[in-house]
Amino acid sequence: MQHVWSSRYTFILAAVGSAVGLGNIWKFPYITGEYGGGVFIFAYIICICLIGIPIMLAELALGRRGRQSPVNTMQQLAQEAGAHPAWGIIGWSGMVAGCLILSYYSVVAGEVMAYSFRAGSGVFNQQSVDGVKGIFSALASDPEKLLAWHTLFMALTILSVAKGVKGGLEKTVVFLMPALFIILIFLVINAMGSGGFEKALHFMFTPDTDKFFYARNELGQYLMDADANKIFTWKPMMVAMGHAFFTLSLGMGAIMMYGSYLNRYVSIGKMTLVIVSLDTLVALLAGLAIFPLVFANGLNPAAGPGLIFETLPLAFGNMQGGVFIGTLFFVLLFFAALSSAISLIEPTVAWLIESRNFRRIEATVWTGTIVWFIGLATIFSMTGTTLRDILQNIFSFIGLGDIELKHSFVKYNLFQIIDFFTASILLPVGGLLIAVFAGWIMQQDSTENEFSFRKPYLYTLWRVMVRYVSPILVAIVFLNIVGLVRF
Ligand code: TRP
Repeated sequence: MQHVWSSRYTFILAAVGSAVGLGNIWKFPYITGEYGGGVFIFAYIICICLIGIPIMLAELALGRRGRQSPVNTMQQLAQEAGAHPAWGIIGWSGMVAGCLILSYYSVVAGEVMAYSFRAGSGVFNQQSVDGVKGIFSALASDPEKLLAWHTLFMALTILSVAKGVKGGLEKTVVFLMPALFIILIFLVINAMGSGGFEKALHFMFTPDTDKFFYARNELGQYLMDADANKIFTWKPMMVAMGHAFFTLSLGMGAIMMYGSYLNRYVSIGKMTLVIVSLDTLVALLAGLAIFPLVFANGLNPAAGPGLIFETLPLAFGNMQGGVFIGTLFFVLLFFAALSSAISLIEPTVAWLIESRNFRRIEATVWTGTIVWFIGLATIFSMTGTTLRDILQNIFSFIGLGDIELKHSFVKYNLFQIIDFFTASILLPVGGLLIAVFAGWIMQQDSTENEFSFRKPYLYTLWRVMVRYVSPILVAIVFLNIVGLVRF
């Protein structure tokens, strides 16, 4: 039986739930500050318009036309267009990407859950910088604790997905998303009174063109060429594009899956605008909730997981009502993560049901268990194990003794490798293929029908975007990321 969303409202909540996640609340505020505030936001919005919106329209249209999991949708649409069934690869790579992303997403979400309790217990009160660092490293270096939280998060994800679209997914997002918005608005209002609001506005919105256009080293100093001129870099542009993909959950069939449950009469164009606007709004509000506290406490809006797990707890520990606000913040982050997690496994679950005759509960438990297992790789990474450690251990086990591993790649841990492989390779490639398929392979009638835009120029605009603009831009990012071209 084909599921359909109960209403367009629940579809919007589910799609926004997928889009709004750790990416918005943790990553966006930081990269915005890092790459020049207002200029970065401008570049990001351009990417959302030129890549995000056209590809989201394509995913929703493909999904609704195929009405199945991404693998079967793609195969069917390929057949319909007289193309090779190998286009099903979009669905396959999407399932792999979804499971891999969820494997680390769940571990980080587990840390977020742990932090809800820590914040609630008041351990951050009056802590020093070293104190909060110690609390975080105690968690990150304790594999059993990480495992327990990861297991709990996966169990909650399985529970939400196993009950089906109407009984599970919808019920979960109908509760989570409004709660998330209320908490977020409350946190922004709280941040306005913290004393750091103006500095935060300045940090986020004042265009700093130098930070956007010129290269810096790890210490934040500008690199100079022989004539003492700053060196131009494309990296912030690339970061903006990559983030546009990740934050809108594009490139792996999650949105296609949600589109397949969409009623025939809903306007895909309007839905896309609502989803994209809400996702961007949440990202901006998250920055306005976080940075004022950081500045009010004279802290550094630094990089990495440190912002959420070290800097913010320090701020919570040293402000009025910090126990309450801190707990709310981590609960918010947990809600955002859970509604994204659901969308990461739904394509695989749906495929198992359709093509392998699984019952939904079996499909969910199997997929969840595999993801849980892959998550162990991230847990070991958190505790400091790099690829070098693993390889050296294997080599010495098979009797090759101490081989020196020189390649710089081995200094990364499995978490970083999985993150790079999914976010920087599978998603852009998936998005590129989706754009090419929708723009070049599918018949014009099929897509035109699916959108039923009132104004004909909107369709033409989409078609130009999806045929030329988005694929070329994505190809540039992708080639740049894998290092085949360097700007
Ligand atoms: N969009 C989510 C975030 O910003 C993460 C996410 C959920 C995702 N589903 C996805 C990313 C599918 C890529 C593909 O955190």
